[in-house]
Amino acid sequence: MTSTVIYTAADGTVTEQDGRVGDSIMETAVRNGVPGIVGECGGSLSCATCHVFVSDETFALVGGPGDLEDEMLDGTACDREDNSRLSCQIKLAEDTVYRVTTPEEQV
Ligand code: FES
Repeated sequence: MTSTVIYTAADGTVTEQDGRVGDSIMETAVRNGVPGIVGECGGSLSCATCHVFVSDETFALVGGPGDLEDEMLDGTACDREDNSRLSCQIKLAEDTVYRVTTPEEQV
């Protein structure tokens, strides 16, 4: 069972990656060497180095951040936008395509 994450880097490079249901967008990137996501804290919501901007369609699917994530988004290396999320907090659902853009810097 897989889902797909399409990562667009700040320089426009697109990487399409299959991911396992239940894994996060951060884990899928780190496991497969997708550039642009660091994930320093391993997904425990304490580093903000997994910052991504989600597409409109993906935002409609996953919604905005929870309270703690929202606080952490104030500490990202690149300024947050309305569509910012921490990608360790987005878990892949079955048969779903996610589109995210990674910021220029994570640290
Ligand atoms: S990996 Fe550290 S907050 Fe997401």
